[in-house]
Amino acid sequence: MKYLLCGPKQYPKGNLPEIVLVGKSNVGKSSFINTMLNRKSLARTSNTPGKTRLINFYNVDDKFYFVDLPGYGFSKMSKQEKVTSGKYIEEYLETRENIALVIHLLDIRHEPTADDRFMYDYILRSNLPFMILTNKADKIAVTKVEAEVERIKKTLGISFSTILPFSSTRKIYGDNVWKQIEQFVV
Ligand code: GTP
Ligand code: MG
Repeated sequence: MKYLLCGPKQYPKGNLPEIVLVGKSNVGKSSFINTMLNRKSLARTSNTPGKTRLINFYNVDDKFYFVDLPGYGFSKMSKQEKVTSGKYIEEYLETRENIALVIHLLDIRHEPTADDRFMYDYILRSNLPFMILTNKADKIAVTKVEAEVERIKKTLGISFSTILPFSSTRKIYGDNVWKQIEQFVV
């Protein structure tokens, strides 16, 4: 089941654990959910950044929710839209008590942006359990994946957190990520 909501009053009732996707616009949060659930178009995706504007909750077998947040750093959003979506993101991360895991998506090909750093620091300070996925790994040679993950790890100063490559098109990465997720929702 899917909910399309914004404020705390409208979040789903009950206390199923929630696994939430954060990351800049167009990094592949909605695609991640489709890939992991093996569905082509459950979560709406698009080449145009700014596709997800609200908070979407996807109930997975009544065991947990995948939560699809709007992306940050979308340059074409109006100032007002940025403030509004930023408010939804912050309100969710700050008030939601059943967050089991935050998955922060970064683009494996690029240096983390200022917004990426801001989000990473924010998650660290929040003490929420999290892991980082460097997405779109299919866009670079398999032999370079490990080095690029290391580079991002160094850039952000990550020492102990889980950081794994991901790709919505390469299944091998998905299996590793499921193994991680399962530890947070049992
Ligand atoms: P917003 O909703 O705007 O925040 O974006 P999003 O993070 O949900 O991104 P979305 O899933 O809509 O994907 C954006 C674009 O990137 C789409 O064209 C996807 O097909 C593409 N994409 C997502 N993941 C991958 C991936 O792993 N590899 C490749 N090659 N393309 C991907
Ligand atoms: Mg989206």
